[in-house]
Amino acid sequence: MVSISADLGPLHPDRNLALELVRATEAAAIRAVPFIGRGDKLAADGAAVDAMRAFFSTVDFDGTIVIGEGEKDQAPMLFNGEKVGSGRGPACDVAVDPIDGTSLTAAGRQNALSVIAVSDSGAMLDASSVFYMDKLVTGPAGVGVVDIRLPIGENIRLLAKALGKPVDEIVVSVLNRPRHEKLIADIRAAGAGTRLMSDGDVAGGINAARHNARTDMCAGIGGSPEGIVTACAIKALGGHIQGRLWTRDDDEAQKGADAGLKLDGYVYEADELVKGDNTIFVATGVTDGQLVAGVRREGDFIYSESVVLRGRSGTLRRIVSEHLTSKWL
Ligand code: FBP
Repeated sequence: MVSISADLGPLHPDRNLALELVRATEAAAIRAVPFIGRGDKLAADGAAVDAMRAFFSTVDFDGTIVIGEGEKDQAPMLFNGEKVGSGRGPACDVAVDPIDGTSLTAAGRQNALSVIAVSDSGAMLDASSVFYMDKLVTGPAGVGVVDIRLPIGENIRLLAKALGKPVDEIVVSVLNRPRHEKLIADIRAAGAGTRLMSDGDVAGGINAARHNARTDMCAGIGGSPEGIVTACAIKALGGHIQGRLWTRDDDEAQKGADAGLKLDGYVYEADELVKGDNTIFVATGVTDGQLVAGVRREGDFIYSESVVLRGRSGTLRRIVSEHLTSKWL
């Protein structure tokens, strides 16, 4: 019998898993609804974590959380090293971010997502001992063109040329942080525009890598877990991602070195952030954003929008769902 997947190679993690996992991000987003715009980011995150965890146990896979909510002692659930899934099915690395943008959620601002990324077992870089990563993300036009080692102005000029548009039409997303003062000034000095994000650089990176998006590049220092999660999505979008770990002090640098991480400006290429293209990335909107609409309750129904990206097939699927409020809240 000829397998439908004969030309795609082995399917681990398999395709159905991607669609199963979207239930977990939907659940996390739905459980966060009562906390959107209510000023309590920990409560929002806690509700999303609980919901995601409950759904994991119903999914047939043998997952190990490589990127979770932190170390076991500080995070009772979804901690690094925790086993998730029924234990049957493919062995996978799992990265979770039940809410990327907890402050955005608490404030009711745009671009908060609930996210799960999955890869083959052993494929994800465990960068958890270093909190921050400097990243450069673009769409396919930037592949083999931009390089995080170059000055940002040069990358902007190279990308504009590859995209066939003037530099003054290039827009770069950057987290709005004091550490990015020079980066922001350099982007503007090069003639490009900035889109300053108050949080949520997973959405920022994906938006920059999508065709017809309103941004062309995402640059600067954000969470390193977010960098790995973003890399899983970029595999499906055919875009460019590089990351450089950014340590805050000697202590963190020592921890990183002890964990075998490469520091001192070492540039992790996409394939070192996550090996191969057998990746799954699922995300459900918590609050509205460019990528997906946020979850919203209207009387008897809760509406959610999600995306499912598969690296191997290079697909992005949208899943729009209606849920009976009475079953959830
Ligand atoms: P949380 O939702 O986990 O708080 O993360 C939000 C976020 O903005 C990430 O998207 C980003 O990578 C990171 O925080 C940046 O960290 P910091 O706020 O310390 O600059």
